[in-house]
Amino acid sequence: MNLMQSPRRDEGTAYEIRPAKYKSELVEVSRGTPMGELLRRYWHPVGVATHASDTPRQVRALGEDLILFRDGAGRAGLVHARCCHRGTTLYYGKVEERGIRCCYHGWLFDREGRCLEQPCEPEGGLFRDKVRQPWYPVEERYGLIFAYMGPPERKPVLPRYDCLEVMDEGEFVEADDTSLGGGGPAIIPCNWLQHYENVVDPFHVPVLHASFSGAQFTTAMAAMPQVTFEMSPRGVTVRSTRRMDDGKTFYRVTEAAIPTLRVVPNPRVAQFARVESIGWVLPIDDTSFRIYVAGRARQKGDIGRMRSKFNGKFWWDMTESEHQRHPGDYEAQVGQGPVTIHSEEHFAQSDRGIVMIRRMLQDQLDALAAGRDPIGVSFDPDAPPVEFEAGNYIREA
Ligand code: FES
Ligand SMILES: [Fe+2]
Repeated sequence: MNLMQSPRRDEGTAYEIRPAKYKSELVEVSRGTPMGELLRRYWHPVGVATHASDTPRQVRALGEDLILFRDGAGRAGLVHARCCHRGTTLYYGKVEERGIRCCYHGWLFDREGRCLEQPCEPEGGLFRDKVRQPWYPVEERYGLIFAYMGPPERKPVLPRYDCLEVMDEGEFVEADDTSLGGGGPAIIPCNWLQHYENVVDPFHVPVLHASFSGAQFTTAMAAMPQVTFEMSPRGVTVRSTRRMDDGKTFYRVTEAAIPTLRVVPNPRVAQFARVESIGWVLPIDDTSFRIYVAGRARQKGDIGRMRSKFNGKFWWDMTESEHQRHPGDYEAQVGQGPVTIHSEEHFAQSDRGIVMIRRMLQDQLDALAAGRDPIGVSFDPDAPPVEFEAGNYIREA
C-alpha cells in the first residue's frame, strides 16, 4: 500500500505538517503585487530630513532601490538608483545646484528626473528630453521625508495628524529613525506585517514585556488587561483596561491605522495623555522593514529615549545569552521567520485584533481591485488633521 495514501493516526507529529504557505497578497510589497499596489496609494516616510543632503543616500523602500538627495535649492529628490543611461548607481553621483550628476558619463538629472545635461553628446544632448530618470514625488513634514510611489493620477494629499499638530506648551515635533518600540536595530530582518500585527496584539505585553523577560515597560503594563477590539474608519482600535492598586482604572488605547501606522502611546506611561507619537512601518522589501517615528518632544532626543531597555541594557549592548533570556519584540517577531508561515498558525480569542487588521487590509485590496480608493486617502488639501483616540488615560473607577 502506498504510504502517502494510508489512513494515518493523528499523532500531531511534525511529519503531518502540510506544505508551508503564507498569504502572499498580504505580505509582498513589490510593484505589481496586490499589497505592493495598495501600499503605493499612500505616502511613506523614506528618511528623516537630514538624510536628504548633498551626499547621495541609498534608500530601499517597497523593494525598490532609490537615491535620496537635496539639490542646491534645498529641495529633496528621490530617484531610482539605476541611471537611465547605462545603469550605474547614482549613489556615486554628485549633487549639484540643479540636481544629481551620474559619475559614469555625467548625465545630470533634476529632482523630477529630467535630464538637464549629457556632456558626451553633441551640443550637450539634443535628445536629452527624450529620457527621464525614474523619480518619485517627495514632501517633508514632521521632520520626515515622505515619498509617494504610486500611480501619479491617484496621488493623495500628504495627511496631517492632530497629535503632531496640536502642541502643549514647550513641545515640538521630533523625528527618529532608530526605534523599534520594544528595542532592536534600525533594520529588522522580517516581513513588515509581523510587526504591524504586533500593534494590535496587546496580550503579548504582560507576557513578553513583563513576566517573561523582566519588566521592559512599567509595572502598570504588567497586569493582564481586559481588551476590546474594534474596527475604526482608520484601522483597528484596541482598548485595554487594567485595574490599578489604588482602585482607579488604567485605560490604554492603541491604534493600527491603515496602511502601516502604529499609533501607540508610550508603553512606559510617562504621563497619562493622548498619544504623543506616530510610527510608520516602512516595508524595505518582503523580508525587512524599518520604522520612522515622529512625536511631540520637550527635549531633543525624547523620542529616541522611549526605546526599551532589557535588564537595564539597550538591545545592542546585550550578549546572545542575554537576548535568549530577555527576548523582546525583535526576537519574537524575527523569530517568526523572514515571512511567517500563515498555514501553520492557530488563532485564539486573543488574536481578534490580528484577524481584524488582516480583514481590513483584504478589504482595501478588494477596493483597489474594484477600482475604488482605499480608506485613509484624501484628495482634499484642506482636509482637517486626522484625529486618533490613542492614549494612556486614568479613570476614577
Ligand atoms: S550610466 Fe549614468 S551617465 Fe552613463
Ligand atoms: Fe511589543
